Amino acid sequence: MSLDRSKQAPWWRDATVYQVYVRSFADADGDGVGDLPGITARLPHLADLGVDAVWLTPFYRSPQHDHGYDVADYRDVDPLFGDLGDAERLVEAAHGLGLRVIVDLVPNHTSSEHAWFRAAVAAGPGSPERARYHFRPWSPEPPNNWRSVFGGAAWSRVDDGSEQPEWYLHLFDSTQPDLDWQHPEVGDMFVDVLRFWLDRGVDGFRVDVAHGLIKAAGLPDHDDPDLPAPGRDDSMVARDRADEPMWDQPGVHDVYRRWHEVLAAYGGDRMMVAEAWTPDAESMSRYVRADEFQQAFNFAWLLAPWSASSFADVVTDTLEAVGRVDASATWVLSNHDVVRHATRYAAGATPERGLARARAATLTMLALPGSAYLYQGEELGLPEVDVAPEDRTDPSWFRTGEVGRDGCRVPIPWEGDEPPYGFGPVAPGSQPWLPQPEEWAGLSVAAQQADEDSTLAFYRRALAARREVLPGVPREVSVETHDDVLTLRRGDLVCHLNCGDSAVEPPAGEVVVCSGPTPGSPDTATWVRTG
Ligand code: NOJ
Repeated sequence: MSLDRSKQAPWWRDATVYQVYVRSFADADGDGVGDLPGITARLPHLADLGVDAVWLTPFYRSPQHDHGYDVADYRDVDPLFGDLGDAERLVEAAHGLGLRVIVDLVPNHTSSEHAWFRAAVAAGPGSPERARYHFRPWSPEPPNNWRSVFGGAAWSRVDDGSEQPEWYLHLFDSTQPDLDWQHPEVGDMFVDVLRFWLDRGVDGFRVDVAHGLIKAAGLPDHDDPDLPAPGRDDSMVARDRADEPMWDQPGVHDVYRRWHEVLAAYGGDRMMVAEAWTPDAESMSRYVRADEFQQAFNFAWLLAPWSASSFADVVTDTLEAVGRVDASATWVLSNHDVVRHATRYAAGATPERGLARARAATLTMLALPGSAYLYQGEELGLPEVDVAPEDRTDPSWFRTGEVGRDGCRVPIPWEGDEPPYGFGPVAPGSQPWLPQPEEWAGLSVAAQQADEDSTLAFYRRALAARREVLPGVPREVSVETHDDVLTLRRGDLVCHLNCGDSAVEPPAGEVVVCSGPTPGSPDTATWVRTG
């Protein structure tokens, strides 16, 4: 195995990866929920778009309390989404189109319906079965003051029929018990799971809650339990959270060194990307040291407010931090856990400006060295949907009464004038698992296909430009801000992002691609070749 990253670049280093939220991409069997055959049938859309890889959210056997992030069997496909043969056909079809496949791995917790947790409940206090999770003896109050990311206490009493049931830890929903990663069988099981999917040809893994597996010894109280959980509030970037007993513990890195070896033994540049909400660029970069993850999402970029100086700070800090460990950066603006960026940037402005800014931020991201992750529907300019209370399904909604993440998970409109807009073969006018807005007809793939001004056409142009131009420019970026303009310069390629309210001419040269109708306008990014 070689750790020398100066050799030929692996496929993932500058890859554009498209995230498919499996429930909401395409529904082949007409039950209103997306599935693997639906995705396979729609893969040509991704090849046409010009991405390099697809990341699939969990499709394993699961009671779906957290839409698949509660896994009951890591080696099987939930019947809702198909079967193992469907997964294998999807991987084969993707590879046939030149697309790599990344699957999701959920190691922090299992479902409460996983065989291990069921056995733990049945076996009772003090049993070896309970030692794979964090069980604690009965007491009037929970064993410590930790809060669930989804609201409420991070402890529930186990439902085993006893008079004094034990507590068990769940950093997320009560149906997602945390595994005890100090137990050797836990690590061994996940190595087997990695091999199971590597043997089926997957190219990589997105690792869920990668910063959470190891807890501080003794599970001490949190000194500020009401602090918003990582990823739920942008205060995480601003403050030092390095001492939180459940997040970012040093021991977590040993897990990833072992996995790195497992992947390396397969060849083909298999990779893993960390979902690790860490306090700053330096702690993020520890996950991408040469013998750990290949990539870690740079959430500071996603959390940055619309401003040239905040974007500049994130780019500079990120490139410095990953550069120190000889890794590359991984950029992302939207995913299935956050408000879509077209809507985030509309705050204090209008939906039109929000979309223009979203396109501009995307084009800026695509100019940066490293990998970029796109979330399904952003290429259509989809906004966050205001899902009615009776339709909401996010476990955090049930635990807190706060809106939650349903609004970014509404199924994709493919074609037609009314729901389900080609999402699946259900009766016209009937709705998929989350209702689609009436006004989405104009946003469908078919509606945008032939329109050169559409967001879809813009994404295709931007991705084509990225493929054509970036391999020929230096990886070094010079970052400048002037008033409200951010300028990223890579050799003779300049990305000029105007975050202000008045037009600013980009530098003279050939316009390669522009996120809006007029280079240099407010809310617009422009790539210019100045050479
Ligand atoms: C992060 C996932 O992206 C999110 O959807 C999930 O609810 C939590 N981890 C818990 O698995």
